[in-house]
Amino acid sequence: MKVLLIGSGGREHALAWKLAQSPLMTEFYAAPGNPGIAEHATLAALDVDDHDAVIAFCREKQIDFVVVGPEAPLVAGIADKLRAAGFAVFGPSAVAAQLEGSKGFTKDICARYNIPTGAYQRFNNAPKAKAYIREEGAPIVVKADGLAAGKGVTVAMTLDEALAAVDDCFEGAFGEAGAEVVVEAYLDGEEASFFCLCDGKSALPLATAQDHKRVGEGDTGPNTGGMGAYSPAPVMTGEMTERTMKEIIEPTIRGMAESGHPFTGVFFAGLMITAKGPELIEYNVRFGDPECQVLMMRLKSDLLPLLFACANGTLDQVKAEWTDDPALTVVMASKGYPGSYEKNTPIIALPEAGEGEKVFHAGTALKDGALVATGGRVLNVTATGRTVGEAKDRAYTLLDRVKWENGFCRRDIGWRAVERENA
Ligand code: AMP
Ligand code: GLY
Repeated sequence: MKVLLIGSGGREHALAWKLAQSPLMTEFYAAPGNPGIAEHATLAALDVDDHDAVIAFCREKQIDFVVVGPEAPLVAGIADKLRAAGFAVFGPSAVAAQLEGSKGFTKDICARYNIPTGAYQRFNNAPKAKAYIREEGAPIVVKADGLAAGKGVTVAMTLDEALAAVDDCFEGAFGEAGAEVVVEAYLDGEEASFFCLCDGKSALPLATAQDHKRVGEGDTGPNTGGMGAYSPAPVMTGEMTERTMKEIIEPTIRGMAESGHPFTGVFFAGLMITAKGPELIEYNVRFGDPECQVLMMRLKSDLLPLLFACANGTLDQVKAEWTDDPALTVVMASKGYPGSYEKNTPIIALPEAGEGEKVFHAGTALKDGALVATGGRVLNVTATGRTVGEAKDRAYTLLDRVKWENGFCRRDIGWRAVERENA
């Protein structure tokens, strides 16, 4: 099979690493890719926002299957365009991608299909949003409706914080994404990420993970794209997974199919496990980054037929096998991230990774043959172990051999799971 992978982050490096191991793979391209992905695929200098150029490339190379990594091209409709041109695609249509692209869209599906989630209201002006917040009281959650790179959510512990967040949204702090605001009840519990493939009709549960969104140790400081993750998430017991499938995923699949926009691709459900059970915080329509990295370390099955089954409606005929061993990844980021940071700082050396270890590239590039850091999140140092504690020790041992002056990381990735193990 000739495959094109779209994306350039650590998530796509993990997908590329796993896809390249498939015996079904005959030719493998990635656009725009990164130096890590280039170890597994031929990089194509394509502007992935130019959908016609992507289609022309697929025709020229006679691509059989396109795997889309990030959400932005999906929300922009790349999967629709490719499908219309006759190509099989892993990833949802633009309308189905609204499950991630619009919080209000998802909330309305939850309401219609009785999916457990925080009670909410949608607003297009500040006075009404504020009146509702005053009625409900704090803690309360204020969300910009659209895609805001993970920064559009304020979990307000006080009334003043919530009211200020409403002003931020309507005064344009998140651009177009904040033109509509969702105000939602605060959910108390432990978070988990649940991943599940879907072919429009049936679903295949994959695995669970937990990430660390805050930049600082002890889960403090501003939100980031994710500073580290581990899989599985201990809070997701077999019973919680079953309930998530029945109460959240299956009604969503039904709802999307009934709306005439069946969902294909991966559901990444952000869950809060509350005293009542799993409740939906949000959907993403692509793999998590860095959650994907730990999932790929644990997946024993060939990834390519699993993703392809989503595109051709045969998900009920495939199975995914996982190692029980946990995997953990630590993100190394440029000093200053998630604020401003210096670009093109030299990465002098990466360690040789052993069995069950891998350093995935995110924001890296080659400049005159030398590896440099170009992004905020730059490397994902990943390892497996018999316990989360062991995976953590191995990941940090590997990380301490990375020679990159301008890099930093959190030293406490996995702390909740390690505490549980040591209790
Ligand atoms: P989101 O972008 O919707 O994933 O929200 C970002 C983060 O805000 C989540 O990962 C949660 O930690 C937190 N969050 C979002 N919604 C709620 C809620 N209703 N109750 C408590 N925390 C929330
Ligand atoms: N790590 C969170 C995300 O990919 O959205």
